[in-house]
Amino acid sequence: MRLFHRTEKRAGEVDFGNLPRHIAIIMDGNGRWAKKRGLPRTAGHAAGAETFRTVATYCKDIGLEYLTVYAFSTENWKRPADEVSAIMGLLERYLYEAVDRMERDKVKLRFFGDTSVLSPKLRALISRTSEISAHYAGCQVNVCLNYGARDEILRAARESAEALAAGEIPALTEAEFAQRLWSGGIPDPDLVIRPGGEMRLSNFLLWQAAYSELYFTDTLWPDFSKLEIDRAIAWLQRRERRYGGA
Ligand code: IPE
Ligand code: IPE
Ligand code: MG
Repeated sequence: MRLFHRTEKRAGEVDFGNLPRHIAIIMDGNGRWAKKRGLPRTAGHAAGAETFRTVATYCKDIGLEYLTVYAFSTENWKRPADEVSAIMGLLERYLYEAVDRMERDKVKLRFFGDTSVLSPKLRALISRTSEISAHYAGCQVNVCLNYGARDEILRAARESAEALAAGEIPALTEAEFAQRLWSGGIPDPDLVIRPGGEMRLSNFLLWQAAYSELYFTDTLWPDFSKLEIDRAIAWLQRRERRYGGA
């Protein structure tokens, strides 16, 4: 039997006194999860929405400050129309239920991405949930919806150029630029988790993840659990972050 030194951590053993401030997740693998079970891809998205609820509540319970999830990318519009509308329908249902549960769950929701192109019903739910969220101080969950990091960077570049031309800022610094991203004011993610087995960022937080630790796992998103979050955090806690230093 292997004996562990007191300070050595086993996989899955989290130091809850030293949590990261911000975790980001690429919620991937819904389609493959459904395919494995002979179900339509939309069944995978429905299961994935439940996983999101579990994970967001868990992150709030352990005291995480920020959770950012990738729900729908600027490239996901390329999918068949029936899959896109099923995803939008699930989002509507999720937000509709969230309005009722927020008082109890105290999970704050914010949205990153251009939501102006979404259906009026979805937009109304987004403003309602954002409005309720403004009163809470708990875990902030940022839902990336019609989000693409290149689109985000381009928008911030345009806004920055305008602010500079108008003399609103004396110089364009990294801090001024970052302020104009959807994530303006939020610390960069310490950890980016991608379930589903792919090792790529797929246009997610390209600016913010400059020094994030990247955690990839084959587990498909609908199978993700609190234990998987613990494993990822415990892994992060064993990393030595150097930020380019010696
Ligand atoms: C992620 O799961 C959900 C969205 C991109 C909306 P996928 O639908 O990409 O699932 P896979 O990757 O095909 O298994
Ligand atoms: C990334 O997953 C987007 C979301 C999880 C919302 P994709 O399934 O769209 O990414 P690719 O196509 O595998 O790169
Ligand atoms: Mg995918």
